[in-house]
Amino acid sequence: MWKSVEAAPADAILGLTEAFKKDSNPGKVNLGVGVYKDGDGRTPVLECIKAAERKLVEAEDSKGYLPISGSPAYAAHVQKLIFGAGSESIASGRAATLHTPGGTGALRVGADLLRQFKPEAKVWMSAPTWANHKGIFAAAGFAIGDYPYYDAATKGVDFGAMLAALEKVPAGDIVLMHVCCHNPTGADLSPEQWDRVVAAASAKGWIPFLDFAYQGFGDGIDADRLPVEKFAAAGLDFHVASSFSKNFGLYNERTGALTIVCPTAAEADVAMSHAKVTVRVNYSNPPAHGGLAVCGVLDDAVLRKQWIGEVAAMCDRIKAMRGALVDGLAARGVAQDFSFIKAQRGMFSFSGLSDPAVAWLRENKAIYIVKGGRINVAGLTTGNIDYVCDAIAEALKG
Ligand code: LMR
Repeated sequence: MWKSVEAAPADAILGLTEAFKKDSNPGKVNLGVGVYKDGDGRTPVLECIKAAERKLVEAEDSKGYLPISGSPAYAAHVQKLIFGAGSESIASGRAATLHTPGGTGALRVGADLLRQFKPEAKVWMSAPTWANHKGIFAAAGFAIGDYPYYDAATKGVDFGAMLAALEKVPAGDIVLMHVCCHNPTGADLSPEQWDRVVAAASAKGWIPFLDFAYQGFGDGIDADRLPVEKFAAAGLDFHVASSFSKNFGLYNERTGALTIVCPTAAEADVAMSHAKVTVRVNYSNPPAHGGLAVCGVLDDAVLRKQWIGEVAAMCDRIKAMRGALVDGLAARGVAQDFSFIKAQRGMFSFSGLSDPAVAWLRENKAIYIVKGGRINVAGLTTGNIDYVCDAIAEALKG
């Protein structure tokens, strides 16, 4: 049956990793996928996770199924992380959380759920956005639109244009937003700008869907949740997709969560009942290990402290590499000003490198960068930074 079928194109991000693995150039550098690397270029298991896993393996006495929505203890930890421990959204019971296979799973469960009850809605996304967002919501059957976001001239958010567009989104449509460390641009809204977005959502009646994949990589675990708190305080219906791939380093354990926030607890119960049906016909119930490891860290005061330190250390190294990249390019006499890279937040640098330059770097230097110019800064190390700066300088000369 596949004889006459054309092959699908490789994934814009994960396809690069496949190509990178096959590349025989010993100097190759993967700056594609958003995976943290330490100074030695390894993606280590966090120490706090290792410790929690050791206890877990000892204590675990069953591999029985989790409930469809996952473990209630895990859901409670997710809610404390995204709302803050003393939050009214938790006390009132008006938020329902499901453990999902990664942040991608959370987005897809949320998309399938919304599509059932809002089949006519359009989903609005920032221009640009994470390469997989459109695919996820389109696969759920939604029409997709975009709203202005990044301004290449200022290297920041074109907030005027963004807000004007959001004020025209019809009631019942869905607006996808990145809570912090916008992927791919690293340009975030200020608290005042978030206030205006929340006001637009309240006034216009569109449904916010918040992608929260980088909690801790902006201003810290607690500070990064501010936009979620603002939406919660407005009493709106909204959704939060959490990922623990980056901040707990649990990439391959597929550890994420979907939180459905409603005006009342009764509505949250109804939403959860339907979300469970969505999950049951998809993957039945979530994998346990990553969630148990997260609970193991967050339940233990010592490991929790260690976790906060490990996230801060990842951020510090990324920041240092931002500086090394900017300084390295300037030292090579590159005319273009790249200092804006120091101000970008999260794992990525939206470098401004053109698609031809990105293709040249891959073909000639075995440096893999996502189309559009997104560089995973966490893939830079003191061992490869000179090679990368030399290569980019050469690419820009040519
Ligand atoms: C990325 O943006 O590189 C990561 O979120 C990994 C992925 O799944 O694309």
